[in-house]
Amino acid sequence: PLVTTTEMFKKAYEGGYAIGAFNVNNMEIIQGIVEAAQQEKAPVILQVSAGARKYAKHVYLTKLVEAAIIDAPEVPIALHLDHGADFEICKACIDGGFSSVMIDGSHHSFEDNIAVTKKVVDYAHERGVTVEGELGRLAGVEDDVKVAADDALYTDPAEVEEFVSRTGVDSLAIAIGTSHGAFKFKGEPHLRFDILEEVSKRLPGFPIVLHGASSVIPEYVEMINQYGGKIDGAQGVPEALLRKAATMAVCKINIDSDIRLGVTAALRKYMVEHPDHFDPRQYLTPARDAVRESVRHKIVEVLGCNNKI
Ligand code: G3H
Ligand code: 13P
Ligand code: NA
Ligand code: ZN
Repeated sequence: PLVTTTEMFKKAYEGGYAIGAFNVNNMEIIQGIVEAAQQEKAPVILQVSAGARKYAKHVYLTKLVEAAIIDAPEVPIALHLDHGADFEICKACIDGGFSSVMIDGSHHSFEDNIAVTKKVVDYAHERGVTVEGELGRLAGVEDDVKVAADDALYTDPAEVEEFVSRTGVDSLAIAIGTSHGAFKFKGEPHLRFDILEEVSKRLPGFPIVLHGASSVIPEYVEMINQYGGKIDGAQGVPEALLRKAATMAVCKINIDSDIRLGVTAALRKYMVEHPDHFDPRQYLTPARDAVRESVRHKIVEVLGCNNKI
């Protein structure tokens, strides 16, 4: 069924695991993720960015997710807005069938972040929708060395209690050293678990969200490069660090880049090996299979949310 994140986060917190939140942009990606959740008996969050709504249109994505819920009725599925930039997009998604939204006010001042987040929470909670807020900014893709050294971008644990109590958010994304995309670290990957621990001490039992949590699966990067692609210097968050975060207060782990890499690796390989094929169903089948298998791996080996439904 379509669910909010409330129940899944409560169980994840108590059970010391995390729910996977995967970005969806088309039918094959949705099917691959939901098949994996079904096979591994895992609750799942399907998240839609502003870019996804622009690419596929809101109604196509909500109808595809509706279809997934009919096709896999036993799987708890939250349909979540990823990085809502303002009240308007959050309202459009709440009115348009989402069960959860993120309002990302992290680029605003503390007071402005609180104001916009509270406005979204008030609107969402009246309609039974859960809300994720964000405090602290994730390091940029280009400038990781500079910003990784800059504490100002990490979440300040001293701010979290006031932010959560004044906004009423249901979960909080924090910045502990991850970043979006396939180029997360130049040197040794490192996460500030001390900040995560301090945040969870101040917010006992409260679900924390980790963005930028793709591993940048090396096998996919190699496959892409082997079959005509060119991706240099890609590096993600090591699985061991994600596993550790999942046992802690982190209840939602966001993954987009690994889905993109899996689709691209499978497509490139197929195209090189079958130069005479031109039926999209032929090459989109291994792409969908790659999504399913990588999500199964995440569920079982990284998130620990298998056999939880
Ligand atoms: O946070 C970023 C997600 O990976 C979504 O990316 O905005 O290109 O759809 P996108
Ligand atoms: P990745 O780029 O690491 O997959 O992060 C995705 C994300 O945080 C979406 O909100
Ligand atoms: Na957890
Ligand atoms: Zn994100």
